[in-house]
Amino acid sequence: MLRALTREVSPAIASCELEFLDRQPIDLALAEEQHRQYQECLAELGLHVETLPAEPDLPDSVFVEDPAIVLDEIAVITRMGALSRRREVETLARALAPYRELRCIDDPGMLEGGDVMRVGKTLYVGYSRRTNVAGIQQLAAIVHPLGYFVVPVEVRGCLHLKSACCYIGDDTVLANRGWMDPDALCSLKILNIPNDEPRGANALRIGDTVLMPAPFPRTCELLQHSGFRVRTIDNSELLKAEAGVTCTSLIFEAS
Ligand code: GLY
Repeated sequence: MLRALTREVSPAIASCELEFLDRQPIDLALAEEQHRQYQECLAELGLHVETLPAEPDLPDSVFVEDPAIVLDEIAVITRMGALSRRREVETLARALAPYRELRCIDDPGMLEGGDVMRVGKTLYVGYSRRTNVAGIQQLAAIVHPLGYFVVPVEVRGCLHLKSACCYIGDDTVLANRGWMDPDALCSLKILNIPNDEPRGANALRIGDTVLMPAPFPRTCELLQHSGFRVRTIDNSELLKAEAGVTCTSLIFEAS
């Protein structure tokens, strides 16, 4: 069974971390409703959705992709670059423990799941403001015995690697070349997002559907013209918190 682990939006979301965006007011009720629709969409796409309760003291905790990397064999609990987010791992690790053996990134490593893009047995890992060399090295040491290969990718101008590029299946990466080093992805086909939608590269492939934020219509058109089936979701409020569609769930196979 394909599962999606999510968490309710924190009532403190207005105090979220921001790296490259200016703070804008976030409508909490609308953010909650949009997140409910996102979870409904995951369920309609065939996922079994398990939702953790909101964390009132952890503003960014709805972004469950960052505290953990779930692989087929293990889950790696990260040590996040954002100090305000480090306690998010506690409840997330408890939620993942029934499904996977847990491994951890330790001090001085820093790593956030939004920086990890998996393509088969290759993990492309963003070197960003939130993920450092020690974090990448620790991850490589953990996953190498399981047959994974780690490829570091320089990220600039955005929060995470997956803000800059996402694997959408069929050997294709949807990417904003200005925000990462495209040479690191040389074995993959790159679909360049339109220049006027720089945040359009964060997309989530589930089955044969690519889930996209509604506010990027030209990127959606590009995907459709390239043969992808696209479903849109309005996540305007969490976009203001520097989010995308990948960061609000952890998707993995488990019975
Ligand atoms: N607001 C998402 C993050 O900065 O981690």
